[in-house]
Parts: sequence; C-alpha cells; structure tokens
Amino acid sequence: MPSLIASGLYRFFHDGDNETAALRGIDLAVNPGEFVALLGPSGSGKSTLLACLAGLDEPDGGYVDVMGQRLSRRPEAARARLRARHIGMLMQMGNLVDHLTVAQNIRLQRSLAGQRERARLPELLASIGIGALGDSLPSQLSGGESARAGLCVALASEPFILICDEPTAEVDAETEKDVITVLRQHCSAGACVIVATHSDVLARAANRCLSIRDGRLVA
Ligand SMILES: Nc1ncnc2c1ncn2[C@@H]1O[C@H](COP(=O)(O)OP(=O)(O)OP(=O)(O)O)[C@@H](O)[C@H]1O
Ligand SMILES: [Mg+2]
Repeated sequence: MPSLIASGLYRFFHDGDNETAALRGIDLAVNPGEFVALLGPSGSGKSTLLACLAGLDEPDGGYVDVMGQRLSRRPEAARARLRARHIGMLMQMGNLVDHLTVAQNIRLQRSLAGQRERARLPELLASIGIGALGDSLPSQLSGGESARAGLCVALASEPFILICDEPTAEVDAETEKDVITVLRQHCSAGACVIVATHSDVLARAANRCLSIRDGRLVA
C-alpha cells in the first residue's frame, strides 16, 4: 500500500478578480522507502502541492490519503492528529517556534507525536553539522542552520512520511551532502521522502523525479 496518495488535486487562490490555479489535477502515489524529488520553476505549484500533501492546506478538489486514512476535508483536530502521527514537514520557512531553543523545538515535536524523549537528539543534530546549536534560539541561526534545525524537527518523530520544501536551498555543497545522507537514511528505514527542490544534486539522489509546470505533473 502506498504511504501517500493524492488524487485529482486542485487548488485555486483568489485575489480580487484574479484567480490563480496553483494545482490543476495532480495524481500521485508514493510508496514506503521511496525518495521522490519534485522539480519545477518558481511559481509552478511545488509548495502548494507539498502543503496539501502534508494537510497544512486543503485542496479545493480531490483528496489526500496518508497511511490508508483520509487527510483531506477532515476536521482540523483529526488532520492535526494524522499529521502528528505520520508526517514530518519542513516548510520553506517558519518551522521553528521562536521562543524555544532548537532542542526544545525537537522535544516539542516528539511530544506532539506522543513519543518519549530518546537519546538520539545530539546525534541527529551532529549528523547535519549543527551539533553545537541545540541551545540556540531560532533568531540566533543563519538561514542554512535554521533549515537544518527545521529538518531535525521534521525528523524528530521519525515520521512515515517526510515532506521537505527546498531543504538545501540555503546550505553549501558539503552540507547538502549531509542533508542528502540524512534523507536517504530515513528512506532506508522504510519511510517515504518527498522534496521540492531546484538542486540537481538533490534531484539525482532521489529514486524518482517528478516535474510540475503550471500546476500539472508533466512527464
Ligand atoms: N497563499 C497564496 N495566495 C495567493 N496565491 C498563492 C498563494 N500561495 C501560492 N500562490 C500562487 O500559486 C502559484 C504556485 O505557488 P507555489 O508557492 O506553490 O510555487 P513554487 O513552485 O513553490 O515556487 P518556488 O520555487 O518559488 O518556491 C504561484 O502563482 C503563487 O503566486
Ligand atoms: Mg515553493
């Protein structure tokens, strides 16, 4: 059974008389252990699609199922429960609660998913080069450090489905390799990973690349 299914997703945004069709009929199934890269120009719908897949945004048409359960058009509390249990999400920005340190952000994510404290936290931070930043506040981090801290938060609950929006946009080539290693390890453990990216290096690390143009997946 696929971990994640999207069927006929549509999403429209309105601004006065202007309508943007950000998603126009997206069908997608991602299996356990798969690493999928979503590629496409700026404004093509990548972030909109990922937000719908993660249940942070609701599609206007179609639906998303995670681990065999309907995520779309459920009450917010039900969506939040499914998200906390199954999904880790690294957004393009705003992954960290401002007044908590990096380590506290990670612990918060674990407790939301109903998981107990584990010893892995220092290793997780060290594996992507931010081992010394557990006690830092988000405002003290650079863009690249904050993306990596956000990735640790997304990974904190060891989610079956990891969704990352441009996880390596602000990091150097060496750090990008570390991020890829962490993502691949997560796949090897049986999770599925979906990343939106403009990076050829990250795309080459994936098992499958999808291209999106004007809200549609293209071959
Ligand atoms: N909240 C919103 N309100 C209005 N329009 C939006 C909103 N979010 C996205 N859009 C529009 O939907 C389209 C898709 O945007 P999206 O953010 O999904 O693109 P993207 O592929 O992630 O781009 P990038 O590579 O720059 O991150 C764009 O035309 C964008 O302007
Ligand atoms: Mg985007």
